[in-house]
Formats: sequence, structure tokens, C-alpha cells
Amino acid sequence: MLHVLFRLGCTILFLVLISCKQKSDEMGHVNKFGKAAVYAELYRPQFHFSPQEKWMNDPNGLLYNDGVYHLFYQYYPDDIVWGPMHWGHATSKDMLHWEHKPIALFPDGHGLIFSGSAVLDSKNTSGFGTAENPPMVAIFTYHNMEKEKAGGSDYQTQGIAYSLDNGDTWVKYDGNPVIGNTDFKDFRDPKVFWNDKANKWTMLLVAGDHLQIWESEDLKNWNKLSEFGKNQGAHGGVWECPDLFPLKVAGTEEVKWVLLISINPGAPNAGSGTQYFIGDFDGTTFTSDQTENRWIDWGTDNYAGVTYNNTPNDERIFIGWMSNWEYARDTPTTPWRSAMTLPRTLSLKKTGETYELINYPLEAFQTLLNPIVHKDIKVAALQQESIPFTHYNQADVSFTTEARQFQLTFKNKLLETLVLILDGDEKQFTLDRSKSGKVDFQENFAKNAQLMPVPNLPEGEFEVRIFMDWSSVELFINGGQYVMTAQLFPNEPYTDLTIANTGKTELLLRDFEVNQVKRVW
Ligand code: FRU
Repeated sequence: MLHVLFRLGCTILFLVLISCKQKSDEMGHVNKFGKAAVYAELYRPQFHFSPQEKWMNDPNGLLYNDGVYHLFYQYYPDDIVWGPMHWGHATSKDMLHWEHKPIALFPDGHGLIFSGSAVLDSKNTSGFGTAENPPMVAIFTYHNMEKEKAGGSDYQTQGIAYSLDNGDTWVKYDGNPVIGNTDFKDFRDPKVFWNDKANKWTMLLVAGDHLQIWESEDLKNWNKLSEFGKNQGAHGGVWECPDLFPLKVAGTEEVKWVLLISINPGAPNAGSGTQYFIGDFDGTTFTSDQTENRWIDWGTDNYAGVTYNNTPNDERIFIGWMSNWEYARDTPTTPWRSAMTLPRTLSLKKTGETYELINYPLEAFQTLLNPIVHKDIKVAALQQESIPFTHYNQADVSFTTEARQFQLTFKNKLLETLVLILDGDEKQFTLDRSKSGKVDFQENFAKNAQLMPVPNLPEGEFEVRIFMDWSSVELFINGGQYVMTAQLFPNEPYTDLTIANTGKTELLLRDFEVNQVKRVW
């Protein structure tokens, strides 16, 4: 009898364990051995890139080579606050799943390794490789702490390193630095690309309040060509992390050049942000007749973003650092700090006389989606409707609508909320994270609601798409015409979405979808 009871007990226990395991497996928080998997900590992004542990900031050296997307990044391997910078490294074949690699670049006698870029030197102009095995070359800023302490303006210079094994190991050039500096305290973040017009390498460098353009035949000897921006664009803070690339205007053969410049502080919702200029580049000089300031993202958490070199079909893929220098060092995560935005495709659209830079998650994200809800939703004037889902913090919510007045509120059982509001009269979106979860770790984190003007929404229907991970929201309006990215730290997953119709006529959300996003770790 005892024996039978014991077996029955074991069977029940086994069934309970299996059912718990299946539940957690759905969210992906245990591995196949039933052990707590990696990337299961509180607030850990499930489908965004974050380092296994320690501090990360800017994406660096974005380069596609031989089937591999490289993501290097500003990394401090000894703490979860900023410290002596290295280049961390990860690779991906699909931009969805990432493999962590050993640290690529360590500080040396010239200084710490600040932000920069990487190229494939396919013609072996540098002589670091051979025609058969062309080198990958990384171009970065050296930041010399001793010289900085000595009080001069000569502590940021530019260096290079190369790899002959597709990024696994790196050798620093013994002629470093390749560009010295005596004049600028802020002189950094080289972005290099092959310039077809000049048949040479072009380097973009920022020097405090402006962009400099340099050129080289061999990546080792550089000449300065031109400057841009002393009297153009936003200047609320230092210019950082430049990028410049051509894009075809959608539906035409016209090509315009887009310049990205991150500034800190001085962003529209405070702290760090990335502005863009649309103009022309003749191989030597960039010009733009743009008079207003433009932002690639209106949220507080998309900074230092740049694009990939050498992608197949010339696709322009952008990744930003999903944080803000205002509170980056204080966010409540451990044992890592910071994540990257979703990789996004950039494109150009012309509406009337205005060119707009569009950014939208890569098409490949569709493969991570698990459909949960798909229906049309109608809400009468001044009414609301609730859509429950077990885990909105690993979800993609989307719909199309003509409505101009609505409010979306994500809520969890602790009554923490994330609120998104469209006010068509004001032509403005609002993102309010003031009660979204843990917000008290730094006074500015949730002080103000974030505002985004939407002056050129199309007349009729437009799409709203919201990617929500454990500690971030990315809001894409009208296919990426207007974008907001923000961190949040809810202490329980949001399990309810309330759609409130704040307008005077019926609200129709067509093809309202909730998709669970599969975890990638
Ligand atoms: C941007 C930045 C860069 C610099 C790096 C240092 O976030 O300040 O200008 O190279 O971070 O980590």
C-alpha cells in the first residue's frame, strides 16, 4: 500500500514539475535540463542584445563579412559602471541570435579603446593581409587618461588594428596613432567607409561641435578634407558617433546622403539623442540646406547609433545603444548593464518637399513571432476595452487605424503602467513611464513624460507597432516615420492592455495583433 502511495505521489510530483517546466519553457526561462537558463534575471532583455555581464555602451565596428554580422561594443569587463574601455565582441548570422566572443581590443600604452568602426579592406590597401585573405581593419579612438589628467587637449587620437581571421583575433598597428591631436578635447568616434567617388577611404570624425571629413589610400595615412556643422543642427552638447551614407529616396532613383550625429546632452526629451541631416556628399564635402533639427528617435533611449558597413544588397542596418548618459550608470540591472536597440533598416521617404529618415525593425523579426491575438477592435467614443495577455514584456503589438485620439495602457498586477497617448489635436504622441515599474533609481529617469511631435502623419490609416521586451519599449508609428525607444523596469510582466478611445467617434483598430516574441538566448 505504502509503495503504491509513494509511486502515486512521485507521479503527481512529476506531472506538476513537467507542467511548471512547460509553462516556463513557453517564456524560455529554463533550459532543456530544467535548470534556470542564462538570461533569466529580472529585467533581462529576451530578444535584444545585451552582454552576459558588466557594462556596455555604444555599438562599434558594425561590419558584415563572410556571412557574419559583427557587433563590437564599448565594454568595461570589470564592473557594471563605465570604466576603462575595451571593445567587446559578438557575432550573428541572422541579426536575431548572437554569439558572445572574447574581448577584441584591450587598452594599451596609447590609451583606452573608445568608439569607432570596422571595414573589410578587400583590396588590401593597408597591406595587413593578402589579396586572397584581405584584412578586417578596426579604426577607433585612443583615450589617454594620463594626458587627460595632465590637463592638455591632446588625449584623444585615432588608432587602427587588423584581423586576418574574420574578427577572432586582432593585432594593433605598430605605427599608431594614425591621427594625432593637439587641439581638441573631444576628437573621436571615427567612422570609415570606402568612397567609390574618390576611390579612397573616407573617415568621419567629430571634433567637439563639428564633423571633420578625412581621406586615406591605405587606412594608415590620413588627410583632412572638410568640415561640417559648426553653425548647423542641434548643439546642446558635444557631437559624437558620426555616420554618413547614401540612400535612395523610396520610389525614385534620387539618392540623398544622410549624416547621423549623436549629441549629449541636448536631445529633445533630455540627455542623449541622435540627430540627422539630409544632404549631399561630393566625395569631399557634405552639405545640407536643412534648417530644422531632426531626430532619428524621440525616445530617451537610443544613443550613439551607427550603421553596418558592407551589408549584402547595400541594406542600411542601424543599431543604437538603448540608454542615456543621464542615468545609464544607475539602471537597476545586474550582473549586466545596457542593451542595444533592435537592428533597424533605414530608408528615405519624400513627402511633399520633405525628406524623412525612416527606421523600422528588420523583416527577419517576423520569424520570432508567435501569434496570440488577431482581430479587429471597435471601441465606442469615450469607452475602453481590455486585452489580457500573460506576458506583454516579450511581445509585439500592432494595428492600423485612422483614429487620432486614443490611449494605450499596459498594466501589471502591481498596477505599474506604461502609457502611450496619441493626441491628434496637438499632433503629438506621449510616452509616460512615470509609474512603469522601478523608476526611483535616478531622479530624471521618469521625471517628465516623453513627447514626440507627429506633424506629418498620413491623412488616412497608419500603423502602430510596439515591441516590448523585459526592460524596453520601441514604438514605431507609420512604418518607422516616428519612433520612440525607452527603457522601463516593470517588476512583474504587464498582463493587461487597455485601449481607451479618447475621441468623439468610434475607434477602429484594424488587424490588432499581439504576438509573443520568442526569446533568442
Ligand atoms: C558615446 C561616447 C563616445 C565615446 C564613448 C566612450 O556614448 O561618449 O563619444 O567614444 O562613448 O565610451
